[in-house]
Amino acid sequence: MPLEIFGNLTEKLFKVIDNTSNGKAVDAYDLMERWTLDAIGNASFGFDFGAVTDGDNEWVHRYNDVVEATSEPLYTFLPILERKYINWFPRRKKVHDELTVFLDMIQHIIDEKRRKISDSNYQSTQDNNKQKDLLEMMMESGEDENGALLTDEELRSNMCIFFFAGHDTTASALSFAIYYLARHPEMQERAREEAIRVLGNEPTNIRPTVEQSREMTYIEQIIKEVLRISCPADSLITRIATKDTELGGVFIPKGTGVTLSIYNLQRSPKVWDNPQKFDPERFSPGGEAENKDPNSWIPFSSGQRQCIGMNFSLSEQRFLLPMLLRKYKWSLPEDSIHHDKVKIELGLGVISPVDFNVIFEKLY
Ligand code: HEM
Repeated sequence: MPLEIFGNLTEKLFKVIDNTSNGKAVDAYDLMERWTLDAIGNASFGFDFGAVTDGDNEWVHRYNDVVEATSEPLYTFLPILERKYINWFPRRKKVHDELTVFLDMIQHIIDEKRRKISDSNYQSTQDNNKQKDLLEMMMESGEDENGALLTDEELRSNMCIFFFAGHDTTASALSFAIYYLARHPEMQERAREEAIRVLGNEPTNIRPTVEQSREMTYIEQIIKEVLRISCPADSLITRIATKDTELGGVFIPKGTGVTLSIYNLQRSPKVWDNPQKFDPERFSPGGEAENKDPNSWIPFSSGQRQCIGMNFSLSEQRFLLPMLLRKYKWSLPEDSIHHDKVKIELGLGVISPVDFNVIFEKLY
């Protein structure tokens, strides 16, 4: 896990909060998105979007424009329009051009990496403990049964999926954690006490190690409960039934699209007691979660197609939350739209809070 990258980004993030907030509310979802974008960019192929320090820079706009464009209904339902007649749609064409620049950037990084790896000096100076980025690992391990490595197109496509699947999801998870802790100051205080107990009370930023993260069991319970009650991935990608079958007494003919709503499952009163209540105690030793069917809590899905970024995302959360708790106390501003319950929107299968302003009060 690239803890060093997480640490450097967190220190930059704190500077941004200190410089911009000054007792005023800041958009916490925007901050989390910027932090997770830089985390995935740096960790997956050593590219720094620079989003934490400058949320307005050209790469951030380019990335956001492309992602936003993927959910425009016209082209989702009539993809032929952009496949064959793109020149008739200048606004859409502009996004395609943005995407080309983005893919060229990824290609440039692949070329650079290949050049570096083939350089004998680079090989000999490689420290075994150095944290390799994901691209480097994919290049080294992508041999198929014929010994062929991943093609550039495969590498580019995989990189895009990492960005897409691994950025907004964790930003939402972190934002929802910030939200529930703002709504429940007593839980925030208990979590802070735990972070201070494990990391110490020095008025300086302390980066948790993996071992220290393991000791912060209450924060772990909070992470799990957030992923239950406000799971960022609303549902699974639709599968097609390959034969006639039956699910829960419902006949499903071959060829039917089938999905599973994680949101409804994890908020179902048939599965969880008082499911609308945010209660990290469910995940305490001996708590409600302990004797449940493992499929009751599947924020990352399960089985063969389980999220491959699960550990990466959990590491990000286990790292950032304790550091935030030691550095700030936070609350919702009086005019927040989220006092009764968190207001969300659904993007391309990912839920996130809207207009999520938070007041951060510096503790050191
Ligand atoms: C809180 C954060 C996250 C949540 C809730 C989440 C959730 C999920 C879920 C539910 C799936 C299964 C989708 C399906 O099969 O229909 C999935 C797949 C995937 N996720 Fe995540 N994810 C998160 C973070 C990440 C991160 C950080 C990365 C990248 C580093 C990532 C990369 C992927 C990829 C590549 C797949 C496809 C795996 C496959 O089909 O074999 N995710 N994720």
